[in-house]
Amino acid sequence: MGKWITWSNDLALGIDEIDEQHKVLIEILNDVYDTVNSGTRDEKRLKKIVDGMLRYVNFHFVTEEMKMIKTNYSDYKTHKAQHDAFVEKAMEFQAAFREGSTTLPEEMMGFLKDWLVNHIQGTDRQYVPYFNRKD
Ligand SMILES: [Fe+2]
Repeated sequence: MGKWITWSNDLALGIDEIDEQHKVLIEILNDVYDTVNSGTRDEKRLKKIVDGMLRYVNFHFVTEEMKMIKTNYSDYKTHKAQHDAFVEKAMEFQAAFREGSTTLPEEMMGFLKDWLVNHIQGTDRQYVPYFNRKD
């Protein structure tokens, strides 16, 4: 099966730790996508994957935010606000899911993919000179 989101150099920031985490995140999203589209509607597995995704997203955001603080990144507040908004949205999805919503996955998948790709290529890219300066 082809992958839903494929890693490419367009997504590489050149900071190994961050690139590795973004790759893991993409794998997790692909896993969610495959489960949603497997046709089996395995709610238990889906719930587990969504929970795992949120845990990893939180871990990843904290990694970036700690680096931003350490390097005195000038746009930290705006960037963190984007992370917080994403987590809030993802938690809304998670909650609706737990209440048994079945139409949500497709909507959720589009949101996650668009957000991640745009965030990496736009917002994340801006901290690269800062992270490189202190590394
Ligand atoms: Fe970010």
